[in-house]
Amino acid sequence: MSTTAATPRVNIPAIRARKGGTPLACLTAYTTPVARCLDDAVDLLLVGDSVGMVLYGMETTLGVPLEMMIQHGRAVVRGAARACVIVDMPFGTYQESPGTAFRNAARVMGETGCNGVKIEGGREMAETVAFLAARGVPVLGHVGLMPQSVHTVGGYRAQGRDPETAARIEDDARAIADAGAFAVVIEGTVAEVAAQVTRAVPVPTIGIGASPECDGQILVTEDMTGLSGDFVPRHVKRYASTGDDLEAAAHAYAEDVRLRRFPAPENLVGGGGGG
Ligand code: KIV
Repeated sequence: MSTTAATPRVNIPAIRARKGGTPLACLTAYTTPVARCLDDAVDLLLVGDSVGMVLYGMETTLGVPLEMMIQHGRAVVRGAARACVIVDMPFGTYQESPGTAFRNAARVMGETGCNGVKIEGGREMAETVAFLAARGVPVLGHVGLMPQSVHTVGGYRAQGRDPETAARIEDDARAIADAGAFAVVIEGTVAEVAAQVTRAVPVPTIGIGASPECDGQILVTEDMTGLSGDFVPRHVKRYASTGDDLEAAAHAYAEDVRLRRFPAPENLVGGGGGG
């Protein structure tokens, strides 16, 4: 939170240049205060469509509207002075055609001020990635486990367990990197496969439930700070117990209110007594 206005923002070429270098530290953010807290620490903030599940309690990411991504994208850009900010394109806003993808991505870029967008998909999205990249929209790809395809694959399952799917993930990552993606997220993929993909593509890979050999890592902030319930998925490491702290704070506050300990004299506006 100590960033000054003079600190330059991490830009797309800087992210691209981290291939094979110091790993990229990335987290999700959906709001201005959280973006402010994370901004100094990380290289990249992703306004993920996971916002629908994490903040709005949706079952999947499929119902997330473009407007939701734009609102949260704006909020994060306001809170982040330094980190590169990428906004997810939600389901249905980019798959139909490169032209539709460009129209919607241009709205996201123009209305949020973010640095680029993320889209899920492999070979089938290569033409769209090339179309966007050639027209000034930096694209972060996303292969392996793709939550927007949850119904097609029948659940949130680790990908790349057999030689065919492992080869498909590598082909997908190569295709979108060749098409101009500046980096590729590899999600929920067997570690050796993610490591092999990392060696195979010329752009940084950012792993989540993938491999330490990826060029960077990303986690959902609410998962790693203990704000998304008691279940901790295997790919997550907890770095804080914010949910427990919040619960304890709510109990302490409620008790103070019920015992008339809050507000105390020092909390009264106008210096005491009156109002
Ligand atoms: O939506 C999201 O938060 C994501 C990350 C988990 C990579 O896609």
